[in-house]
Amino acid sequence: MIRARVIGTGHYLPERVLTNFDLEKMMDTSDEWIRQRTGIEQRHVAAPDQATSDLAVLAAQRALKDAGLAPFDIDLIICCTTTPDHLFPATACLIQHRIEARNAAAFDLNAACSGFVYGLATATAFIESGRFRRVLLIGAEVATNRLNWKNRDTAVLFGDGAGAVVLQGEEGERGVLSTYLAADGADAHLLMLPAGGSRIVPTKENIGTEVHDFQMRGQELFKRAVLAFGSAIQKALEQNGISASDVDLFIPHQANVRIIQAAADRAGLSGDKVFLNLDKVGNTTAASIPIALDQALQAGRVVPGKLILLAAFGAGLTWGSAVIRW
Ligand code: ACO
Repeated sequence: MIRARVIGTGHYLPERVLTNFDLEKMMDTSDEWIRQRTGIEQRHVAAPDQATSDLAVLAAQRALKDAGLAPFDIDLIICCTTTPDHLFPATACLIQHRIEARNAAAFDLNAACSGFVYGLATATAFIESGRFRRVLLIGAEVATNRLNWKNRDTAVLFGDGAGAVVLQGEEGERGVLSTYLAADGADAHLLMLPAGGSRIVPTKENIGTEVHDFQMRGQELFKRAVLAFGSAIQKALEQNGISASDVDLFIPHQANVRIIQAAADRAGLSGDKVFLNLDKVGNTTAASIPIALDQALQAGRVVPGKLILLAAFGAGLTWGSAVIRW
């Protein structure tokens, strides 16, 4: 059977770091509150002239180098993002041009914080069907320039960054073993950016009003996230006929350390099996899992043969999981 195997990874974080202490000077918040409620200590912030594709290109080039491939070896580019450079064309097309991946088809995928898991399932399906052999899958976000820095509920949570993986179709036991995806649009209102699309177009009258701010019902999202992470983990274990003790490393979407710990504890995934980096990067939405995966590899926590579990939850609502034999 052909499996989708990750043959290269890379990530990029913008140089500028904004700590909780910096935020204390910008709004009525405290380092202690942010750390206790979220686990976040700092986040990276894109420069004013850096758009999502700029971050994505750097992560993609690092992943390609790691894979030992040239850009023209890539058949498909999927860019998972909620913060595309433009409404259209797709950011994936801009990346395709910038890295000179002339043989690649390209499209964007928006499943918010679950974007990378949705993208991984999509790339895997294309590879397993034989339609494409090599897919460059990117999660990239510049969210900080959309934040209302007066809104402490949301401004403290998000950071910018990009992560990328190169997947290749190969015979064998290594690669993506399973994926699981779910959604519940009935609760779309729990987290949204109302304006900018066709429902509420930007006008002179509404610029600067709250329709251009992230709208988030934090406590309800928190509860849904714990349940959805739990369900996504359970499905992943069932799909593979394994138990939590078989998992070598759990790499969750990095939203909030309390959400992750609650879900991991319930699933029986002990502390050292959970990879966390949100203290240093915050919630980077679709970029969070590929950044964490690359950092886990660099830290020697992902090595050949290990069983890796990914799970995510985000706006939509969307959630999902994947199991990879590294
Ligand atoms: N600094 C200081 N105080 C704050 C801040 C802040 N940044 N934000 C809110 N507060 C205050 C509130 O006003 C409230 O004050 P009050 O008691 O006087 O009314 C108090 O802190 C408690 O607020 P809660 O909303 O009850 O705090 P909670 O413990 O729920 O934590 C949080 C809020 C961190 C947003 C939490 O609900 C959460 O993480 N929810 C999930 C949100 C999320 O992760 N969204 C990202 C996208 S979805 C995803 O990625 C999974």
